[in-house]
Amino acid sequence: MARKKLIAGNWKMNGLLADGVELAKNISSGVKAMGKPQCEFLVCPPFTLLASVKKALRGAKVALGAQDCHMAEKGAHTGDISPLMLKDLGCSHVILGHSERRADHAESDDIVCQKAVAAHKAGLKTVICIGETLAERESGKAVDVCKKQILGSVPADSSAADTVIAYEPVWAIGTGKVPTTADVEEVHAAVRKVLAQKLGKANANKMRILYGGSVKPSNAKELLSLPDVDGALIGGASLKAEDFLAIAKNGGC
Ligand code: PGA
Repeated sequence: MARKKLIAGNWKMNGLLADGVELAKNISSGVKAMGKPQCEFLVCPPFTLLASVKKALRGAKVALGAQDCHMAEKGAHTGDISPLMLKDLGCSHVILGHSERRADHAESDDIVCQKAVAAHKAGLKTVICIGETLAERESGKAVDVCKKQILGSVPADSSAADTVIAYEPVWAIGTGKVPTTADVEEVHAAVRKVLAQKLGKANANKMRILYGGSVKPSNAKELLSLPDVDGALIGGASLKAEDFLAIAKNGGC
């Protein structure tokens, strides 16, 4: 089953207006220069940059996503952003359940699931993140933790058309540490299996499962050539257009 790889940048809380626009323009021209790339591209800037990045990406095949949304369409939720607002702004995607949100904002699987339902209803595609902590990895629970997060965070009516999974071991994020390829493949295969139980085999076979956590140009080839790895969610290295594009190129795009 051929799944088109997705190369996604998670800019996190980085970038003022001028930096964000420049980064987007450089990514945009780099992707254009690739001609007909074998991959799809996505960038997820902070909320404050979405509108200007959208403009800077004009004409390039690079999708725009946010890094979170609320579970309600509108209402009395000071400081929050609804999925409809993101859609209205030209976003096609939203990252949900990133481990930094799970940790900093106490987002449970159930909250992530409710946000995903709302995002899908608004017509957004979700990138739902899962991943174990170092303690969980060291006590041999990585696969079980990830399966539980999939069961709790992914809405029951999700499909490959509206959902992407990102496996991001918490201990690999921003640390330069990366699991062995055998460990990555073990989790990705287990995730696909549990997706098949939850959503049916056809959906599971089509659904993209990205790897995230210290992806860089030097390890992209190895990670992105694994059979169940369908792209990357890139943090730090997505803040430099040349690294982001090099990851894509080295990853076979
Ligand atoms: P990193 O972050 O590439 O900086 O490790 C990945 C992520 O958190 O999405």
